[in-house]
Amino acid sequence: EKEIRVLGIESSCDETAAAVVVNGRDVRSNIISSQIALHTLYGGVVPEIASRKHIEKINQVIEEALKEAEMTLDDMDAIAVTYGPGLVGALLVGVAAAKAISYARNIPLVGVHHIEGHISANYIENKELEPPFLCLVVSGGHTHLVKVQDYGKYEILGRTRDDAAGEAFDKVARAIGLGYPGGPKIEKIAHEGDPHAIEFPRAKIADDPYDFSFSGLKSAVLNYLNGCKMKDIEIVPADVAASFQQAVADTLIEHAVRAIDEFKMDKFAIAGGVASNATLREGIRKACEKKGVAFYHPSPILCTDNAAMIGAAGYYEYLAGTRSGLDLNAVPNLKL
Ligand code: KG4
Ligand code: ZN
Repeated sequence: EKEIRVLGIESSCDETAAAVVVNGRDVRSNIISSQIALHTLYGGVVPEIASRKHIEKINQVIEEALKEAEMTLDDMDAIAVTYGPGLVGALLVGVAAAKAISYARNIPLVGVHHIEGHISANYIENKELEPPFLCLVVSGGHTHLVKVQDYGKYEILGRTRDDAAGEAFDKVARAIGLGYPGGPKIEKIAHEGDPHAIEFPRAKIADDPYDFSFSGLKSAVLNYLNGCKMKDIEIVPADVAASFQQAVADTLIEHAVRAIDEFKMDKFAIAGGVASNATLREGIRKACEKKGVAFYHPSPILCTDNAAMIGAAGYYEYLAGTRSGLDLNAVPNLKL
């Protein structure tokens, strides 16, 4: 079998990343330069700062990815780059770098959808996983329940009507004074808390059983905190974190089970930053076991933003004949 080598590039939010992936599943390098420490100062991602930092880091990260893979640009069969959705100024840095390399070295360019990347992260450590399967994509910007019909072929069953799951984690974390990014911090203190201490709502959307809503839950947490302050009741952050986390997990698990029952698929995967949350992961694992459905998830480093997932998705797009021109542009609200 001929090796198809893809250089993946990702810069849609606050990680500058590059990776070399062979035949879609064999990761030879996965370099991630995180800006989290920088944005923590401001309590969230500052778009202007993100773009500037990407510009500073992108070439170095690409060089490191090639070096670690013991390859050069001449060994690459394609350059895969995230072109949306994401922050426009951040996306543009990766897209410009990829276009420059593609043009200078005459290497095919493949634009990749960020969510397709997250889904494809599952192929890397689960060599046997092939479509069709169901995938729950939960990140800072997205909450999608997706039917992966084939490589590059997706049907969105449900999406969030307001906040993304990760966004809710970030906002609640800020409210209880944990800082950015909220997900990992809430998960950490939740270990010390009681997930049943506070009864937070599990939202249901009347006209669409697969859509999500997390803004009501977020408001319920904020109201609870305000109520405690007004009535001079002691707030136990670990209990708030654990109860909130359980409410998010319960909602996501309930949707997953409903889709498994209705679509009779025998494989279920999770993806995106929130998929690294152990309460969610183990809850979905249990639900899948009960239904006799195979469960897949990437390891935490492949759940949050990275370029290996873009290399994996780019490989399948490349095989399908997808080629982007030098007019490839960043599309902040790109649809799957
Ligand atoms: O996929 P990702 O790195 O970026 C986007 O595409 O948005 O996801 C980042 C999001 C953040 O909202 C972060 O708080 C959340 O994923 N997250 C978590 C955990 N780790 C990251 N949420 C819950 N539990 C975690 N362990
Ligand atoms: Zn992401």
